[in-house]
Amino acid sequence: MNSDVPFGLIADGALAVHDDTIVWVGPRTELPPEFSAARVVDVGGRCITPGFIDAHTHVVYGGDRAQEFELRASGAGYAEIARAGGGILSTVRATRAASSAELAAAADRRVGAMQRDGTTTLEVKSGYGLDRETELRMLRVARALPERHALRVCTTYLGLHALPPEWSDADDYVTFVCDEVLPAVAAEHLADAVDAFCEPIAFTPAQVARFFDAAAALDLPVKLHADQLTPGGGAEVAARYHALSADHLEHVRDGDLAALAASGTIALLLPGAAYFLRETTFPPLARLRELGIPIAIATDCNPGTSPLVSPLLAMNLACTIFRMTPEEALRGFTVNAARALGLGDTIGSLAPGRKADFVVWDVEQPGHLAYPMGANPGCTVVVAGKTAKGAFD
Ligand code: NIG
Ligand code: FE
Repeated sequence: MNSDVPFGLIADGALAVHDDTIVWVGPRTELPPEFSAARVVDVGGRCITPGFIDAHTHVVYGGDRAQEFELRASGAGYAEIARAGGGILSTVRATRAASSAELAAAADRRVGAMQRDGTTTLEVKSGYGLDRETELRMLRVARALPERHALRVCTTYLGLHALPPEWSDADDYVTFVCDEVLPAVAAEHLADAVDAFCEPIAFTPAQVARFFDAAAALDLPVKLHADQLTPGGGAEVAARYHALSADHLEHVRDGDLAALAASGTIALLLPGAAYFLRETTFPPLARLRELGIPIAIATDCNPGTSPLVSPLLAMNLACTIFRMTPEEALRGFTVNAARALGLGDTIGSLAPGRKADFVVWDVEQPGHLAYPMGANPGCTVVVAGKTAKGAFD
């Protein structure tokens, strides 16, 4: 993933791993002799990439939204359904009603599918509980995923996702989130970051700023669902608070992009949601490139706008819908996704000192990963130096 050559590709390369860490990578002919006595696996010219990092998911939730999908197929709009009490709030009802074991079992199926397509690190948001007890429960379910799946999990408290039905005043709800839920989340170390949905159907920039102030006081990094459906100034708030990532950005105001670039915030694009909502306005890719804003992509796996588990298909959608290159898509799911989680020094590239999280693909060129639609060419997944899926023959 270094940027000197396309894909940072090392032809006829070798990768040395000790315990859970990469200790050497380079051309096979230059492999230092001290590694020759170790166990050697010949992968037969296959391509090795960093494990995929899905940096924006809502993989823990109850129920589904198949009925809403039917309604939208008959002409109803996403925001219209949300305003009528459906949308996110229908998943809130299903999530509150589900036991932790039910939430875990449903998440297990999705996480298993993600891992089969190369995901080795997963960000998981709360945000479908919106009361103290269910938000804490969702985050505990997310934190426990690595007990049953060999992958890394980062959790995010999505406190401001929608105004829950028991609250009539959004400012009062923000006060409750800042004063009562966030401290409980922090006390139990249940979240690695916080997130909000900045949108007319959700929360205003001023409300988001109050939440981010409370997070900053607890040393929690922030990220934001910004300018997904309308140009509401989300990217400006994200930049002002040095967010790890500003996510979606279909309707970002051009004037906010310079601030985003200056703040070092990653643009995290979610092509699955744009596809599923039949969005016709896309993130300003040319401007992001021009300003040198690093671009990550993720599945956004959620029941309402992106029931997508596959990083491979997300990469294909990034290329076809957002017109990213296959190389940008791969960087978006690896090195830039790691930065979006604040883990740029730990994962996301094949380099000495990084964790040995990688995927051996049955392809000879990395450009072939984004090309098929919904087909996995075959792979072996390694997390922390241990085979997590598949086998070496
Ligand atoms: O990332 N936009 C807010 N959150 C999700 C959608 C959630 C839902 O509709 O359930 C998203 O697209
Ligand atoms: Fe989302």
